[in-house]
Amino acid sequence: MPTSDRLESRRPYDGSLLWQGAVATEAEVAAAVARARMAQRGWGAASLDDRLQVVRAFRAVVEAEAEAFARLIAEETGKPFWEAKTEVGSVAAKVEISIQAHAERTGSREAVFKSDPKGATQALRHKPHGVLAVLGPYNFPAHLPNGHIVPALIAGNAIVFKPSEQTPAVGAFMAGLWAKAGLPDGVLEVVQGFAATGRALAGADVDGLLFTGSAPTGAALARQYAETPGRILALEMGGNNPLLVWDAADVEAVALIVAQSAFLSAGQRCTCARRLIVEDGQHAALLDAVVALADRLRIDEPFAEPQPFMGCVISDRAADGLLTASQAIGGKTIRPLLRLREGLPFLTPGIVDVTGVDVPDTELFGPFLQIVRVKDFDAAIAAANDTRFGLSAALLGGDRALYERFWAGSRAGVVNWNRPTNGAASNAPFGGIGLSGNHRPSAYYAADYCAWPVASVEAEAPFIATPVGIADA
Ligand code: NAD
Ligand code: SIN
Repeated sequence: MPTSDRLESRRPYDGSLLWQGAVATEAEVAAAVARARMAQRGWGAASLDDRLQVVRAFRAVVEAEAEAFARLIAEETGKPFWEAKTEVGSVAAKVEISIQAHAERTGSREAVFKSDPKGATQALRHKPHGVLAVLGPYNFPAHLPNGHIVPALIAGNAIVFKPSEQTPAVGAFMAGLWAKAGLPDGVLEVVQGFAATGRALAGADVDGLLFTGSAPTGAALARQYAETPGRILALEMGGNNPLLVWDAADVEAVALIVAQSAFLSAGQRCTCARRLIVEDGQHAALLDAVVALADRLRIDEPFAEPQPFMGCVISDRAADGLLTASQAIGGKTIRPLLRLREGLPFLTPGIVDVTGVDVPDTELFGPFLQIVRVKDFDAAIAAANDTRFGLSAALLGGDRALYERFWAGSRAGVVNWNRPTNGAASNAPFGGIGLSGNHRPSAYYAADYCAWPVASVEAEAPFIATPVGIADA
């Protein structure tokens, strides 16, 4: 059993032990931050080219160790091996995308300052914050922390990273890849532990915190950081994401997109569709196709052959929570969320019609889809926005005019048409509104929160026009 000073990670699909280690104490967290602060001086002062050399070496190490990396991700999360490989691909691809984003969004500019009579130079440059804490979630234990770490290192920050307590092995492995790439000691520190270690890190002497995780944790961090508004806080949280189907002709294609949106990664993506909104009395064939498809999804261990569509959820505790929450919702059950194997967290997809039911506006982070029937398209948009979250949304069907109505009315950071709600692109900004984030989107815009701008007017000799109101000497 895990104790408060030991952390164990078990393969969720069979319960076997994968990794164990010590939980960092508050003093150890403070020491890690102090080491990072020392190391940041050299890293931040190094030339951008020198930093990029290390970051590109990291990409090469990731590519060289891709198989072992993906295997470990699959073992620790229970996600299918094919999917873990795509996660490793995203980790490697993040490097060039972040280098480009750094140059475009936080690069340097110098120009003649036109309003200066002696032709001073106006400069815009960026500085790193210093030491940044990174807190990661378990569902993408490599790709999502990496999405903060790579741009933060490029900008010249040092990092103290606490992986999720559910995926410490992947966090430790990824830090090892940075060491192999030649990142100087101390520039990336890892502290392992539960929420208490996260709280200790958030409260330590860091210059900011980059967070991906659940809305309740993000809200707790926002409260903690309210006392220190000078520190950067980037929050990427969950969603209660709507998927509208309207005037859709191609039932098979739409059903596939619905299944992928709702059930990919066993529903453990922040962008997964949680609510399917349809016109009342329409789309009976589509709903039948979605249910038929849900029944055909292969659910199995990560390395099973043939490869599964989805694996288990992260833990028995998570499975129990989802089963309890799904049963409490009410509505008309079309497919119940069920435990597939006794004592293990494999769940079959749940589909429930909740039209007219007062469902709590929370994120159920698993393979569970709620159907809502509405009378017209305005009601559909209102239902889509009837949430405190605002991460992703999609419309399936309709023409461009209908999509433009949907886009204009949608309150979400990702709005798609005839494509799934999930599978966000790293070369676009990624974040949401409301309980989904704090307007510091990640992915392509992560560069923005990793550095702060300094505006300068510069000249070789002091000069200003004599100010008004100075008497003759
Ligand atoms: P979580 O909030 O439980 O944990 C995330 C991290 O925060 C972990 O390292 C945890 O130990 C730490 N933590 C927990 N409580 C803390 C506290 N009070 N103070 C400081 N640190 C604390 O999230 P999770 O369950 O690991 O991940 C799943 C969640 O992440 C889902 O809600 C999902 O939607 C969200 N998510 C969001 C995005 C996004 O980019 N918007 C992406 C992936 C996952
Ligand atoms: C996630 O970050 O949880 C999902 C990203 C995506 O697939 O859109």
